[in-house]
Parts: sequence; structure tokens; C-alpha cells
Amino acid sequence: MEQIMKQHRKMFQYVEEMLYSYDRRKGDKSKNKIEYDRYAHTLRVYQWMLRITRELKDDSLDVESLKIATIFHDVGYAVQGDEGHAKESAAICRDYLERRPYTPEQIDFICYLILEHPNKRLLHEKTTPLELVVLMEADMLDDTGAMGIVLDSWITSKEENPSFNEVCRHFEKYTYRHMKQMDFVTAPGKRFWHEKRTLVYEFLRQYRRDLGLMD
Ligand SMILES: [Fe+2]
Ligand SMILES: [Fe+2]
Repeated sequence: MEQIMKQHRKMFQYVEEMLYSYDRRKGDKSKNKIEYDRYAHTLRVYQWMLRITRELKDDSLDVESLKIATIFHDVGYAVQGDEGHAKESAAICRDYLERRPYTPEQIDFICYLILEHPNKRLLHEKTTPLELVVLMEADMLDDTGAMGIVLDSWITSKEENPSFNEVCRHFEKYTYRHMKQMDFVTAPGKRFWHEKRTLVYEFLRQYRRDLGLMD
């Protein structure tokens, strides 16, 4: 990760400082219980973005803009909860980039990617730039699969009467249901999701058997 971050070290630091200064209860309700770390999420999304980009091998892709958009995509949580965080992220990023030698066109494009990243219906529209598709896919790949399993257990442990069965119920309601969806467009995105889904389905099958919920 150190090596990966080298190119944009200053940006990462800027985002890290902003996110660590915020009140972590501003995120979504279930994640507030575990004081979800948005900066760590950003780093993981960045790695997913690199994995997808590497496999796509698409020369027309504006990787530089995509990287910057990924670094800043959730920085708005420093000022705003779930609702409207993308707008704040774009504003923070614009302010940062305008003080540096970036062209207005590139700044506009990066801010567009950030602003629209929660807008999942754009995934399947033909006119959506590939950079936005990759950012959305990378974002969806974090906190799912193996991480989803841990996240559900962790969140449940903060609830009133945590138990193995309670974790299972939570799991069926969130991670399992979530993994059933398939919103991916790119070939690598689809493959990563498929891997995660296979893991989650097999985990739930065995977990239910362990708990005696099936023969
Ligand atoms: Fe976001
Ligand atoms: Fe995100």
C-alpha cells in the first residue's frame, strides 16, 4: 500500500486528516455502532479500483482522474452524513484541486465522478463514463464478501443481545441479501463479485448447519 500511495501521498494525507477529524457518528446508522473508519475504507476502495483498472487494460481510461476521484470520494463524511456526502466530497476536492495546476476540464470531470458515485442507476446507462463505473464497482466491492461477514458479526455484537443466532439473522438480512444482487458491468468487477458471492453462500450454508438450523 505504501508504494501504491506514493504518487498521491499529499492527497491521501489531506483526506486522512479531514476524515480523522470528523465525528464518526455521522455515517450510516449501523456503521456508527462500530465507529466505521472511512479512511480505511477509502484505501480499500483504492485498491479495488487498481485491481479492476489493471485487468481492464483500457488505454482510453483516464486513470489519473479516477485515482483522484477515488481518494476524495467519501471525504465529505467529514462534514456530512450519508445524505449529501458526495456533494461535500466534490466541493472539498474542487477546492483542493483549484489551488493546484489542474485544468478546469479535469477538475470538472473528477468532481462529476465524485458527485455521481452514489448514483447506482447510472451503472447501466450507456452514456456513463467507464471511470464512473469503475469507481462505483470498487466502492461496492469493499465491505462485502469476507468483510461483509465480519462486518455483520461486529455490528450485531454491539446490539442488545448478541448471539450466534442473532448474527445469522443479521447476516441473512444484510450481507446475504446484498450479495444476491448483481450490479456489476465490467468483467473483472463481475468476477470479483462472483467470488465473493460464492464465499458468502458457502459460509451461510455451513453456518446454518453449525447452528442446527438445517440438517
Ligand atoms: Fe460514498
Ligand atoms: Fe465509499
